[in-house]
Amino acid sequence: MGVVGRAIEAGHLDVRTVDLRDFSKGAHRQIDDAPFGGGAGMVMMIEPLAKALGPLSDSIRVLMTPAGRPLDQDMLDRFATIDHLTLVCGRYEGVDERVVEHFIEEEVSVGDFVLPGGEAAALTLIEGIARLIPGVLGNAQSIEGESFRESLLEEPHYTRPADYQGWKVPDILLSGDHGRIEEWRAAQRLERTRQRRPDLLD
Ligand code: ADE
Repeated sequence: MGVVGRAIEAGHLDVRTVDLRDFSKGAHRQIDDAPFGGGAGMVMMIEPLAKALGPLSDSIRVLMTPAGRPLDQDMLDRFATIDHLTLVCGRYEGVDERVVEHFIEEEVSVGDFVLPGGEAAALTLIEGIARLIPGVLGNAQSIEGESFRESLLEEPHYTRPADYQGWKVPDILLSGDHGRIEEWRAAQRLERTRQRRPDLLD
């Protein structure tokens, strides 16, 4: 079972989904409409969202949108301390801006690309949060030592066998010299970050 499943099973996390169409009117259960001013695509209507989000003012209501603040580890750390989050998944061209003004505390993006809906972005947020809840991960060290806590990428990891069809694990890791191993790992983190994500070193 994954981290989210374990967190739910152990009672550390509760995830509920809401179908916005349950808050719409009419037989067609319409939740989107053409944009004022014309143009392509549809916009999510304010009424169903207002009905769904209005009563949830005790929670932090987060809209998943490519126009939001880019998600990072610091944001996940903060979200993990919040008791009740409501994640709003936009569809179509987005939501009526009055929803954002009146019912949304934060807007979050998972990257500089456009998804057809916010659901996968919301799942990213949920997975990122679940593993930070105390008691969910067995070994707290795996959180402390990981990428982005110290603004560096992680070093490469290896496990048995030490030689797979001639592809060998670096000798240093088999040396038993923990001081030199830690030096090697630190150097690898720095070099990887320099090569792949120099922006993190700024
Ligand atoms: N919805 C569509 N694209 C998105 C993105 N990049 N981040 C968050 N929500 C989105």
